[in-house]
Amino acid sequence: MTMEVTEKRLLVAGDIMLDRYWFGDVNRISPEAPVPVVRVSKKEDRLGGAANVAVNAAALGVEVGLIGVVGDDEAASTIEELLTKKQIDAKLSHDPSISTIIKLRVIGRQQQLVRIDFEEPPSEIVLQTKLTAFTSEVASADLVILSDYAKGSLTNVRDMISVARGAGKPVLVDPKGTDFERYSGATILTPNKSELRQVIGDWRTEAELTEKAQNLRASLNLGGLLLTRSEEGMSLFTEDAILHIPAMAREVYDVSGAGDTVIATLAVMLMQGKSLPESVMIANRAGGIVVGKLGTATVSREELFASST
Ligand SMILES: Nc1ncnc2c1ncn2[C@@H]1O[C@H](COP(=O)(O)OP(=O)(O)OP(=O)(O)O)[C@@H](O)[C@H]1O
Ligand SMILES: [Mg+2]
Repeated sequence: MTMEVTEKRLLVAGDIMLDRYWFGDVNRISPEAPVPVVRVSKKEDRLGGAANVAVNAAALGVEVGLIGVVGDDEAASTIEELLTKKQIDAKLSHDPSISTIIKLRVIGRQQQLVRIDFEEPPSEIVLQTKLTAFTSEVASADLVILSDYAKGSLTNVRDMISVARGAGKPVLVDPKGTDFERYSGATILTPNKSELRQVIGDWRTEAELTEKAQNLRASLNLGGLLLTRSEEGMSLFTEDAILHIPAMAREVYDVSGAGDTVIATLAVMLMQGKSLPESVMIANRAGGIVVGKLGTATVSREELFASST
């Protein structure tokens, strides 16, 4: 094997989801209601949320552990099978009282007709089990990613950050919601524009953004705040510098999941000893590559280091 071999281990924790697609033909309207009838001819399942972050990191050649909550149902088994195929070492907590998070899209005539979401927050007791599993996994990890989609797996994110930081591990967090206090003490936070706006309000100028972003970074005691700005690229705010990087995408097909690719790439580069600015630059390149892809939502090491123009 010529590929770089590394012993580094990443731990990902967060909201785990199954992205499910049912494709079929539409030939008639239902006799029951004025809706199309889709006769399903093809099904596809993909790992989503924190599981997609894990898959993206694994594609870059590190060992990946995954912690999170799923139900005790068919979707949970499907997720675990897909994770095994991707060689991700998942230690999922099963909550029999909830459905696994599923986002089911029904597609007929090349068109999404409906999306059906199954999601329920995990119970207190299972969250406790998950925290215990997380605590024991942190010990063997070089770095931790917390992928928050506000579905409830990271209700105790404060405890998770303090466990990981207490063990001396860097913690990268992809945040959600209006309360960023709970991410205090994280090494790097990676909000997108709307996530940041919800917390610091809108900004009219770059100067205003810088002031607000730096205040937030300081008040949350973060090592860095990385704002991902879609077609505007990204901006990194640290105590001693600000780095703006333009977007790299040439053609944009599918922007969903770009944030997952960015945080996974950032983590892997940091774990492999690259500096923060260098890691951010490479993560931005990964974001630019992944939005140019339909279907597969990962970037390989070869693509990342071959397509630098
Ligand atoms: N339309 C685009 N054109 C060029 N680059 C893009 C575009 N959208 C995303 N990117 C790249 O991907 C990175 C992350 O995208 P974005 O800021 O949209 O994250 P996000 O909103 O968390 O994504 P998602 O939630 O869909 O996973 C950007 O910083 C940029 O490098
Ligand atoms: Mg995102």
